[in-house]
Amino acid sequence: MVSRIIELPKIEDQRGNLSFYESLSHIPFEIKRAYWIYDVPGGQTRGGHSFKVQHEFIIALSGSFDVKLNDGVSEVTYSLNRSYYGLYVPNMIWREMLNFSTNSLALIVSSTTYSETDYLRDFDEFQKLATNEK
Ligand code: TYD
Repeated sequence: MVSRIIELPKIEDQRGNLSFYESLSHIPFEIKRAYWIYDVPGGQTRGGHSFKVQHEFIIALSGSFDVKLNDGVSEVTYSLNRSYYGLYVPNMIWREMLNFSTNSLALIVSSTTYSETDYLRDFDEFQKLATNEK
């Protein structure tokens, strides 16, 4: 699985810290869209799908949550809890976001504009496609 944690620059300053990322430099795709997930009630899960084409980069800007990934064969869970670490998630990876802390804020940037037809929302269908690609 080529998903991975990417450590971002962190400019420490007495006035507070600053982190950033740029398309194709810190993350391996060009950013077409940003969205964020917030006010998640305790115990709720987001995601539960895969994308045929789009790649994403996920950061816990504040608070913490887990991202569970499955490439059709194996599963791995990442805990995001720092605003200078992000998770790169390529296309054709099933993902779920869970264990959101109170007031957590997830920032996600994507390689494509929003397209419902890019979603695979049925795990069996995803798994068939993912394992055929290998
Ligand atoms: P969805 O991607 O299913 O949410 P999550 O993966 O976090 O559980 O999106 C939820 C709804 O929001 C769905 O109706 C589509 C809509 N949506 C947009 O209109 N634009 C977007 O950029 C995103 C990510 C979702």
